[in-house]
Amino acid sequence: MSKVISVNQKIRSFKKNITVPGDKSLSIRWVLFSSLAKGTSKAKNLLMSEDVLAAIEAVKKLGIKVFINQKECKIFGKGIDGYKFKKNLTINAQNSGTLGRLILGLLINSPEPINLIGDKSLSKRDFKRVSDPLSKFGAKFKLRKNNFLPLKIYGSPNLKPIKYNEKKGSAQCKSSIIFAAMRTNGTTKIKAKKSRNHTELLCKHLNLPITVKNNKNFDEIKIKKVKQINPLNYNIPSDISSSAFFIVLTALSKNSELVIKNVNINPSRIGIITILKKMGIKIIFKNQKIYKGEKKADIKVLSAKNINSINCPPALNSGAIDEFLVIFLVAAKAKGISYFKNLGELNQKESPRLKWAEKILSNLGIKTITTNDSIKIYGNPKLNLDYNKKIIIRNYLKDHRVFMTSLIAALSFGGKWTIHDKDSINTSFPNFLKIIENLKK
Ligand code: S3P
Repeated sequence: MSKVISVNQKIRSFKKNITVPGDKSLSIRWVLFSSLAKGTSKAKNLLMSEDVLAAIEAVKKLGIKVFINQKECKIFGKGIDGYKFKKNLTINAQNSGTLGRLILGLLINSPEPINLIGDKSLSKRDFKRVSDPLSKFGAKFKLRKNNFLPLKIYGSPNLKPIKYNEKKGSAQCKSSIIFAAMRTNGTTKIKAKKSRNHTELLCKHLNLPITVKNNKNFDEIKIKKVKQINPLNYNIPSDISSSAFFIVLTALSKNSELVIKNVNINPSRIGIITILKKMGIKIIFKNQKIYKGEKKADIKVLSAKNINSINCPPALNSGAIDEFLVIFLVAAKAKGISYFKNLGELNQKESPRLKWAEKILSNLGIKTITTNDSIKIYGNPKLNLDYNKKIIIRNYLKDHRVFMTSLIAALSFGGKWTIHDKDSINTSFPNFLKIIENLKK
């Protein structure tokens, strides 16, 4: 299969209902929680992408049996202390920061040292943000050049509860600490800058000993040792981060309308909706429901007539952290200058995404002023590229969101695009191109 895609035509108007795959954050968390449960957990609509399959491989390496077919996945947990920690074990988190960081919390009591490795992109990402708090519990770490993978974790049988102030707003760090606290006698107290709260909601749903106090800018979490986790049957709702590409494509296309069915709309994940609504995009939630503590709904979006620029409040950053690349495409077509700040974390993702934003937008002929943690985008409401304008995107760290954002730009603004590294979508959204084809029919 070719790894390159050529696009030289904008998408025509469409009016469709679509379904995107299961949420990645929930899928990985379901695998990890189920691997600790006593008994069989079942999931429907689990995201079948490389990141989630890597999570399944990881728990299998720890001695947990897993059964998967098209319809459902079953995990046969052996209880909170049911992992088999073999000698010389290596866990490969591949491209997944979520898996790599969360699983370290669960390895904190391993009697054997465990190696954690990842692909080229993950090996450039910071792991000190989890090794620091996890060391306070009593584990030891050896990291490459202080921060990076490969790393080795040396678990401890004598874990002490900790007090930790999580200042980055990283759900991965927060969740890793929660997992470690579940294995520790005493009460761990975390003050955490706001970030997605799926781990806390799952703990509550499973009746684990957690309390969460929500304040305006941070949460206070207390968690005690967990004795038992009951099996967790879960029908995973669709991923808002995958929906984001189609929300933006619809907003930027003429006379179009789209309904995305059954999407997780956890308030800590819908920053993109708040931002786009402020920019004048019409988005409606229909059939809202609560499922196991998580909100879900169908999302309806309409083509935009006029797009306003935005001075984006940083309080919205964490809820939109994975969506900024596509949000910037909307800013490219807005009337006026948009400003996004305090976004240093974007350069800590699968690839340095602020740098990518600058590159993609400059290919569109859009002026930007970028710093280490902010971007100003000089929008052009008439943005429309000539079909002789050649654009080549070679995404050497295989960042799935760089590939998908480039394709949405090509379909929205025109130009003659050659976009490399198509296989990057397998980490989060393997049927992305099939859904695009369906919109063209
Ligand atoms: C995730 C948290 C976010 C996000 C990532 C998934 C999670 O990362 O970017 O794609 O599932 O916890 P950080 O926690 O590092 O911000």
